[in-house]
Amino acid sequence: AGFTTLDMSIYKEGELVTEKWRGKPIFVLKKTAEMVAKQTENQKARDIVVNGEHYMVAIGLCTHLGCIPGYNPDEQSFLCACHGGMFDFAGDVTKAPPPRGFDIPPFKIEGSKMILG
Ligand code: FES
Repeated sequence: AGFTTLDMSIYKEGELVTEKWRGKPIFVLKKTAEMVAKQTENQKARDIVVNGEHYMVAIGLCTHLGCIPGYNPDEQSFLCACHGGMFDFAGDVTKAPPPRGFDIPPFKIEGSKMILG
């Protein structure tokens, strides 16, 4: 109990999908080649690679007070409507008040699967 298995092969580049783990939203964003090419060191540190593909996988709750930010695919960023916090496509914080980027759940990779928990 408490584990969630994600089949990472089903996701499409540039499309945010919200999964669930222990009652929390989990954001999964398969990065486009353009996103991967422009990643900063901070963004790379949060990168999750499965079968050579790059993903942002993180708990979809604002690290300020826990609202669920919305993704804007044109801006490639997340906006938290509660107090205006922003996050980039890698889940790193770009505008306060959130004190840090999205938290990443404990996980392991097995083949094309990502097991959270
Ligand atoms: Fe997201 Fe405050 S809860 S900015």
